[in-house]
Amino acid sequence: MTAPRLVLAYSGGLDTSVAIRWLAEQKGYEVVACAIDVGQVGADGGAEEMERVRRRALDCGAVDAVVVDARNEFADDFVGPAIAANTLYMGKYPLVSALSRPLITRHLVRVARETGAAAIGHGCTGKGNDQVRFEVTAMAIAPDIVVEAPIREWGLSRDAAIVWAQERDIPVQVKTHSPYSIDENLWGRTAECGILEDPWESPPEEVFARSVALADAPDEPEELTLTFADGLPVAVDGKELDLARLIAEVDRRAGAHGVGRIDMVEDRLVGIKSREIYECPGALTILTAHRDLEDLCLEQELAQEKRGLEGRYAQLVYNGLWFSPLKKALDAFVAVSQRYVSGEVRMGLYKGSAWVAGRRSPIGLYDHDLATYDASDRFDHTQAEGFVRLWGLPTKVWARRQGSL
Ligand code: ARG
Repeated sequence: MTAPRLVLAYSGGLDTSVAIRWLAEQKGYEVVACAIDVGQVGADGGAEEMERVRRRALDCGAVDAVVVDARNEFADDFVGPAIAANTLYMGKYPLVSALSRPLITRHLVRVARETGAAAIGHGCTGKGNDQVRFEVTAMAIAPDIVVEAPIREWGLSRDAAIVWAQERDIPVQVKTHSPYSIDENLWGRTAECGILEDPWESPPEEVFARSVALADAPDEPEELTLTFADGLPVAVDGKELDLARLIAEVDRRAGAHGVGRIDMVEDRLVGIKSREIYECPGALTILTAHRDLEDLCLEQELAQEKRGLEGRYAQLVYNGLWFSPLKKALDAFVAVSQRYVSGEVRMGLYKGSAWVAGRRSPIGLYDHDLATYDASDRFDHTQAEGFVRLWGLPTKVWARRQGSL
């Protein structure tokens, strides 16, 4: 009888390297490692590093190892909808990790189908949101598949995992250990653990990788113009770029001004409050621009309804419900809303800030002749009097009858 197969989401780090062997030894699986490039090693030139990761998986005992370049798919299918929906969990976090988990799960399931595996696996612990996102996504798109969570199950400390690996000659890299738990992709970088677990302590500079310290930011502000078409950014300073490249370019330029650092206490789905440090220069710049362009282009009832739904959308994504009926229905709403969100936003970048310096759109709803206070005014002031009287009528009736009670 041949051993059952499992496709493991493989990062190349200690935990998932040990997991390959653990799944074989403890559960009898043949492990196929799947390393997915979502831009964690930079927008360009990730191929060499991903190949090193692939070979490491084989050295650790995987029967096969595949690399998936999913950068464009991540940008187009996951980040794009998040931009359209202006998603910021708790009003702050652009959902960096939450957006990548459904994509990674989708590939694990695909590779499982292609290699005859009946199981997939992830390297999450039991305390985080990511386990929920992997497993609930799997339930949504492949309800038959088995999901293994070796790290959650083995209960080994980091040191014990190293010893366990060394006893078996598993070539894990322990030298480059950082005290932080990092997750990274095109849309941003997350950091937890170590000194960050004290919410009173400022994050040490070494935590950051995509933004300069304010003290090192240039003394001259810089401008960057984003062009949007149907709600998505399509060009930077007039230069057209595909979404993945565009995000990387904005990330680099905003990060050079110290933009994008987020320090927050976050409500996890599993009930814990955790201190999180995020670095999302490109995400915050793009979201700020997009939201502003919506203010110019969306009719006000639609805009107000959309703002109310954005928080709900972010919460669904955060909570692992990317593939769910409500999220799908909200996507339809958002898609319709983006039809006229086209134009340009001029962003200023300086010493940690990214602000809207100007915006314009050929189909925007700003009408200068209605808004102006100068002689070109076309607004009919005579109609205001009657409007105000009727608008205030219920208030007046209330005040007379009940206001003084
Ligand atoms: N707290 C963030 C979230 O839930 C970041 C998670 C980062 N994941 C990780 N394995 N380090 O989305």
